Amino acid sequence: MRFHGGDRLEISNKYGYDQSEIIDFSSSVNPFGPPASVIKKLKKNLGEIAFYPDSNCAILKQKLAEHLNISWKNIIFGNGSVELIFDVINYCKPKKVLIPSPTFCEYEIAVKNSGGEVVDFKLDKKNNFNLDVDKFLEIIPSVNMIIINNPNNPTASLISKNDLLKIIDKAKKYNVDVLIDEVFMDFIDNKQKYSLLKEAACINNLIVLNSFTKLYSLAGIRIGYIVSNKNMIKLLSLKKHPWNVNSLAQIASVTALEDKLFLEKSLRLLNKNKEYLLKELSRIKEIKIYPSETNYFLVEIVNHSLNSSELKNELAKEKILIRDCKSFKYLNNKFFRVAVKSEEENKILIRNLRRVLTN
Ligand SMILES: Cc1ncc(COP(=O)(O)O)c(C=O)c1O
Repeated sequence: MRFHGGDRLEISNKYGYDQSEIIDFSSSVNPFGPPASVIKKLKKNLGEIAFYPDSNCAILKQKLAEHLNISWKNIIFGNGSVELIFDVINYCKPKKVLIPSPTFCEYEIAVKNSGGEVVDFKLDKKNNFNLDVDKFLEIIPSVNMIIINNPNNPTASLISKNDLLKIIDKAKKYNVDVLIDEVFMDFIDNKQKYSLLKEAACINNLIVLNSFTKLYSLAGIRIGYIVSNKNMIKLLSLKKHPWNVNSLAQIASVTALEDKLFLEKSLRLLNKNKEYLLKELSRIKEIKIYPSETNYFLVEIVNHSLNSSELKNELAKEKILIRDCKSFKYLNNKFFRVAVKSEEENKILIRNLRRVLTN
């Protein structure tokens, strides 16, 4: 059974609401997207659905390559970044994969589907779920692949570029490939201190994953990408299904990349809203907020008998959807995750959390 955020249908069925009425804090996407420029372009190009999309995503590839200042030969696109996780695992067929946990469940599902075994590296709650790099380095010789989500979903913990380079360096010595999932990296202020997206083009054992679905709020249209060395990209291209990225997703992504103003404006607003949400969440003494540099918070119910599923149900009655984190390995039914949303939506969340938890 797979558990993810964004399941608006579940509470709309349960309480008879229209899905559009639900305020979805469970899915950590940019609340200000999709950009208006993208919607306009999509409406104009709806007729494209009559034709096959460009299987190579050539225009988009060129655009993203310019944006990242790398060669288009270092990029491959997928039907959401999740498709690429499965493609990489299916291609590499690693026997043992080291994964810091709790994290996004699809890594483990992909590894097991391809006959591999997951070696969990438990992130310690006492250490705010930060990775103990020295201990992690010790395990590398016994595995064939490493998957790291940076920043990590759901803990929002972050690993510095320096620490990652230590891990990649040691992994290289033992012939271990490293997949870094950076789908939430674009929400971070000083991402150059953490992101290895550009470096992935010239490091042999490194594959970096990113997505348009979070930053531009294009989750329904499905588009993600990998940056890696040219050889890896070539091999993945040979394995991929034709036409895996639809024409509207390609058009939307090209337009989104051109809309620099949207990005600047929405990230500025998001930061402001995040400050407010953090301040207000921190004032509720029944919960503990874990540090976050990105666009969501992991929260633990500490001074209340309610568990995360009960809290989710209480909030759902008010058309608010949060991510119950009990399904994550090493978390329990006291944890939930909320995304930063618009000022008004954040206020509704705070008001309702106070009502449910402080009475
Ligand atoms: C850490 C992480 N990686 C990848 C994905 C998949 O994103 P998408 O397939 O929409 O690009 C998700 C979705 O929630 C995620 O949380």
